[in-house]
Amino acid sequence: MPGPITKTPDQPGAGSPSAPGQVPGEAAPAWAAPDLADPHSLADKPARVQKMFGAIAASYDLNNRIHSLWQDQRWRRFAVKSAMVKENEHVLDVACGTGDLTEAFARSPAAKVTGVDFTRAMLDIAEHKRPTRLPPELAAKVSYHEGDAMALGFPDASFDVVSIAFGIRNVADPAKAIAEFFRVLRPGGRLVVLEFDRPRWFPMNLFYDFYCGWVMPRTATLISRDRSGAYRYLPRSVGTFMSRSEMCGRLTAAGFSDVSATGLSLGICVCYRAFKRA
Ligand SMILES: C[S@@+](CC[C@H](N)C(=O)[O-])C[C@H]1O[C@@H](n2cnc3c(N)ncnc32)[C@H](O)[C@@H]1O
Repeated sequence: MPGPITKTPDQPGAGSPSAPGQVPGEAAPAWAAPDLADPHSLADKPARVQKMFGAIAASYDLNNRIHSLWQDQRWRRFAVKSAMVKENEHVLDVACGTGDLTEAFARSPAAKVTGVDFTRAMLDIAEHKRPTRLPPELAAKVSYHEGDAMALGFPDASFDVVSIAFGIRNVADPAKAIAEFFRVLRPGGRLVVLEFDRPRWFPMNLFYDFYCGWVMPRTATLISRDRSGAYRYLPRSVGTFMSRSEMCGRLTAAGFSDVSATGLSLGICVCYRAFKRA
């Protein structure tokens, strides 16, 4: 019989006394400065990601609006349009978080929209928002479930559209998640992925580095009263994540065709679209 779950000093939340800025006796942040050299390579990335989103869930939407300068909902609407949803189709929104993209899909002709996430606190907010943000007939299309992007609990070929917004960068093994997206899509199905990118052209890249590397970590941390290190992780996780061409290559390697990447808001956000051939 397995023993009780305990945390070693290396695990996030274990209270490592060496974490910089940590008050003695307080749980360790999900992301301390040394963890951020390459956050994607850490073996316990899923536990850290879950802990971080659990900590910032309550202020997640507000921080998104403010720090995207009210562009984030526009990016989600672009993703929904790219998915070309038809009547009676079933959409799976992976890493749905607080449900903003799920709700945008509920406003499309889709018959059913399923949101999946592995952080309970984010799903609780999504559930809470559903009846207040959607009229009853649209709210009835939506259901939320706890689940892992890398092991989706759905049969093969059960969705017409799969989406993931600002989630693939947070998944421990993106290739495994992409293979799952391909598996659960029906032939003729579409995958849409929204993800951040660092603009490459001058002077936008300088402005971006200053805003995301200096301003946003401070203001977002203040707004959320965050101690998990979430807004230090955000720019590092974008800067160390795969490039647009790598992402397109991964999607093609997984079996998708007609893969495209569209830059939004001067390239800060990218909308990828890929098809599972009929
Ligand atoms: C930045 S939030 C994005 C939320 C939402 N899609 C949006 O548009 O705001 C990332 C979400 O990914 C979820 N996540 C990360 N890894 C996951 C995994 N392996 N399985 C399911 N959810 C995951 C986190 O819990 C978090 O809610």
